[in-house]
Formats: sequence, structure tokens, C-alpha cells
Amino acid sequence: MATQQAKYELLKEQDNFRNNHKCLRICVLVSLCAASSIAVYATWNVIYRQSLNIPPNLLDVPRSWIYRLQFYNEHFDSHNISLHKSLLYKSISHNNQNNTKNIKQIENERIYPSKLGNFIYKPKKHSTDMKLVCYYHMPTYVNKLSVLYPSRIDPHLCTHINVGPAEVNDSRIVINDDLRKLLENINELKIKNENLKILLWVGGADDINFPQMVSTHAHRKLFIQSLKSVLETYRLDGLDLDWEFPSAYSKERQHFSQLLHEIRREYQREHRTYLLSVAVSAVEGIAYFAYDIREINSYADYINIMAYDYHFYSRSQPFVGLNAPLYPRRNEHSLLSTLNINYTAHYWYSQGMAKNKIVIGLPTYGHSYRLVNPFSNHIGSPAEGFGSVGELGFVSYSELCWFRQNNMYVNRVFDVETCSPYLYSGLEWISYEDEKSLECKAQYIKKYGFGGAMIFSLNTDDFASYCEPKIPRKKSVSNETFPLVRKIYSVLFDGMK
Ligand SMILES: *[C@@H]1O[C@H](CO)[C@@H](O)[C@H](O)[C@H]1NC(C)=O
Ligand SMILES: *[C@@H]1O[C@H](CO)[C@@H](O)[C@H](O)[C@H]1NC(C)=O
Ligand SMILES: *[C@@H]1O[C@H](CO)[C@@H](O)[C@H](O)[C@H]1NC(C)=O
Ligand SMILES: *[C@@H]1O[C@H](CO)[C@@H](O)[C@H](O)[C@H]1NC(C)=O
Ligand SMILES: *[C@@H]1O[C@H](CO)[C@@H](O)[C@H](O)[C@H]1NC(C)=O
Repeated sequence: MATQQAKYELLKEQDNFRNNHKCLRICVLVSLCAASSIAVYATWNVIYRQSLNIPPNLLDVPRSWIYRLQFYNEHFDSHNISLHKSLLYKSISHNNQNNTKNIKQIENERIYPSKLGNFIYKPKKHSTDMKLVCYYHMPTYVNKLSVLYPSRIDPHLCTHINVGPAEVNDSRIVINDDLRKLLENINELKIKNENLKILLWVGGADDINFPQMVSTHAHRKLFIQSLKSVLETYRLDGLDLDWEFPSAYSKERQHFSQLLHEIRREYQREHRTYLLSVAVSAVEGIAYFAYDIREINSYADYINIMAYDYHFYSRSQPFVGLNAPLYPRRNEHSLLSTLNINYTAHYWYSQGMAKNKIVIGLPTYGHSYRLVNPFSNHIGSPAEGFGSVGELGFVSYSELCWFRQNNMYVNRVFDVETCSPYLYSGLEWISYEDEKSLECKAQYIKKYGFGGAMIFSLNTDDFASYCEPKIPRKKSVSNETFPLVRKIYSVLFDGMK
């Protein structure tokens, strides 16, 4: 009996000892596994990140591009993304707590064109011509690596070039020294192509002086007088108004319509054939409040819809996404399903804009992101910041080509659903446009009979031929610059070039 008990105790002790041992072994094993996988991951990550060749900054990102993104961000933040229906209502109550206006009041304030017809502006017959409107941002000369001088622009690339931006100060258009130099030189392009129209681009997202300028008849008159003198001095063909954006308060929307009306009347009174175009937001929630669309339709020759910046990195939307998708993706609903070119173009059309006055903006730049996890790299994956390529997430086509050519493991994906490419390598993820995606989007414009394409911008296309394959460069072959704009031109004007 006693011996047996002792045996049992011995067994128990051994068991305990064995159990302790097992636990220890498992612990050691698990921690070894964890440590080694962390080590492998960290090493891989470090090596991968270090081996990425990042292009030099070829682009000066103007303040106004960043301001627009900030504005969009605030707009999106103020809404609950999952509730598109209440989107319009919410943006009213958010924007101004003290304001008690509701949708009905906003609607009542809307101006509609007279039922008797518009006697001020009858568009000419040939206004159905396809347009290719190119924005040309004046060089800032801060970044000397890549400056687009007027002499490098192919005069046959676009039908219209918007040059600027000029600011509004004290209700007048201000032409600073850089812009003056540019405007004096840009007319050389018209000597080479007499059909080219050159417009003055006034405004931008950082121009805060519009509200005061439109507020009274006297102020608007000052603006129109300065406009006339600038157009005459530099022999320009018209004005592109880029106010981002009129608000639904303080009657800014109505005053904006009034301004367009007065500019048109002035053109008529002086028997001028100057053009008047308006750069407008692509986001429905903003456009609804900012514009009386039928009024714009009555007075403007055409509108340039800024159909880009639908997705970009922000702290409140930390996901990778496409800059300018043509259609929504299958898993996008409510607000997200409105953030694409097709929805925007049809929205403007449904609100009373003539189809041949809808000029659809296409970007030549992309947006870069830094992924959280290099293995999660599909559209919608988490991002933790701007990518290393470009500046503040803005990537020119030249920088993109540089990156693609100087790194080994760059995965390119063409998302057929949205007609948009993206690429990733390590933690870098970039949404961009290439010749294939722009061909597809230009064909869309043609197929649906819209007024044409707008390009933002000439400065971000590959005007210095970084994208060419690294074969010995032929000299003075002008058709290898601006590959993206050239592609759009060839689609819109069908083999005419
Ligand atoms: C959106 O709002 C609804 C109701 O107000 C709420 O139930 C939902 O959780 C909100 N979603 C987000 C992402 O905030
Ligand atoms: C809010 O409205 C009241 C009354 O209309 C006005 O006196 C006050 O100045 C407004 N406050 C702000 C911050 O606009
Ligand atoms: C705007 O005009 C005022 C005087 O009219 C001038 O003092 C100011 O410097 C101008 N601002 C800019 C940005 O040109
Ligand atoms: C494009 O937009 C229109 C109007 O919103 C819609 O009827 C059509 O289905 C859309 N096309 C695609 C392919 O999503
Ligand atoms: C560029 O132009 C030359 C002649 O000017 C022509 O032979 C060549 O095919 C063109 N290249 C492209 C890509 O259009």
C-alpha cells in the first residue's frame, strides 16, 4: 500500500515536471517562431523599402491643388459616408451652425432662366465642335529641374489653353510679373496655330477674394472693367472663371450667376467674341449648393468639370483609391458610387447643362499613397500616408515613368471596370493615368456626345520625354512629348493628327 502510494507520488511528480517542461518548450517554440517571422518581415520590409528608387521632384505643387483637397476633405468628413440620402441636408447644417436655411429655402432662392428665352446669348452654330481644353499653370521656377516654358508647348496640341492662374484682389484681376511675362510670350503659339484660343484662367482654390468681388454690382463692374483691359492688353480670347466654390450662403450662388450674366452682356454690348468658361466641381454635394446650373448654361460657352481628385490620401479616408475612375466599382454604394466621371457628367446633364457645353476634365497627374501592409494592395486597401513619389501625393506622369523605369518589381494593374491603372511596389501605391486609360475615357466623351475633354494639366504630362524607352534619343522629334494629351487629341479628332 505504502509503496504504491509512493510510486503514484513519484509518477505525479514526474508528470508535473513533464508538464512544466512541455509548457516551456511550447513557449520557446512559439516565441522563436514569432521572432523569426518578425525578423524576416522586418528585413524584407527594410530591404524592399531601401531598394525603391524614388524619382527627384519634378513638380512644384501649387497651393491651390492642396487647398482643393482640403476643401473636399472637409466636405466628405461632414457627411456620414453610408448615408447618401441625407448628404445634401447635412452639408447645410454642418457648414454653418447659425444658419437655419433648409433645402426648401435654398431651392426657393434658385434663379432659373426666363421662360421667354435667353436673348442675351445665342451660341453660334459651330459650337458643337469638339474641344480639347488644356490648363497651363504658370511656372513657379522654384523647382528648376523641370519647367514648362511656353516655347515647349506644341501649338497644335489643344484647341484651347487656359493660362494662369491670375488672382482677384480688391475686385480686380491682378497680373503678377511672372504671369505678365508668360502672357507676353504665349501669343507666339497663336502665330503658329491661328485657330488656337488662349484664355485667362482666374481664380483657383486658394483665391479667397471672389465673395467680396461678386457681392455688389459696383464690385462686379470693377472686375469686368479689369477683365476687358487685360483681355485687350494681352490679346486673349476669353476668361475661364475658377471659383472654388461659391457657397449657398450670403447669396454667393446668385451673385455668381449675376456675374456671368453681366460678363456676357458686356461681351455682347461691345460686340466681342470673347469666350466665357467656368471650372466647376465634380462632387454632386458641392455642385448642388454652389451653382445655379441652368444659369451657367445660359451664359457660359462651356464648363470645365474637374472630374478628378475623387480619391486621395487623407487622415479621415486612409485608403488607396483611384484619382479619376470612369465608372463606380461593383462594391461601391451611396456616396462612393457617385465619385466617378460617368456619374458626374450625367449629373450635370440632368441638371440642365447642354451636353455640348460639358467639357470633362481628365488628369495627367496621379496620387501616391504609402500602404500599411505591402501584401494588401488592391483598391481600397489601408494607407498610412502620401507615397514617397511626387509631392504631397501629387505625381506627374514624368515622375511616374521615372519610378516605373528605375525599379525592378513594379506591379502594374489595369482596372477594367473603372478604366484606370494603378501600380504598386513595396509600400508605394500610385493611381495614375496612362495612354490606355485616357484613350478609354476620351472614347467615352466622344461616344456620349459631350463637348470635349479638359486636361489638367500640361505641366503634369510628360513634356520632357522621361517616359520614352531608354534607347538612344532621337533629336527634335516633337511628337514624343506630351504623350497623354496627344493620345486624347488623337481619339477626339480621329486620326486628324
Ligand atoms: C452613419 O449614421 C448612421 C445613423 O445616423 C449610423 O447608424 C452609422 O453608424 C453611421 N456610420 C458611420 C460610419 O458613422
Ligand atoms: C447668428 O445669428 C444671430 C441672429 O441672426 C446674429 O446676431 C449672430 O451674429 C450670428 N452669429 C454668427 C456667428 O454668425
Ligand atoms: C491687394 O491690393 C492691396 C491694395 O489694393 C495691396 O496692398 C495688396 O498687397 C494686394 N495683395 C496682393 C496679394 O496682391
Ligand atoms: C452612367 O450614369 C448613368 C446616369 O447616372 C447611368 O444610368 C448609367 O448606368 C451609368 N453607366 C454605368 C456603366 O455605370
Ligand atoms: C513622329 O513623327 C515622325 C515624323 O515626324 C513619324 O515618322 C513617327 O511615326 C511619329 N511617331 C509617332 C509615335 O507618332
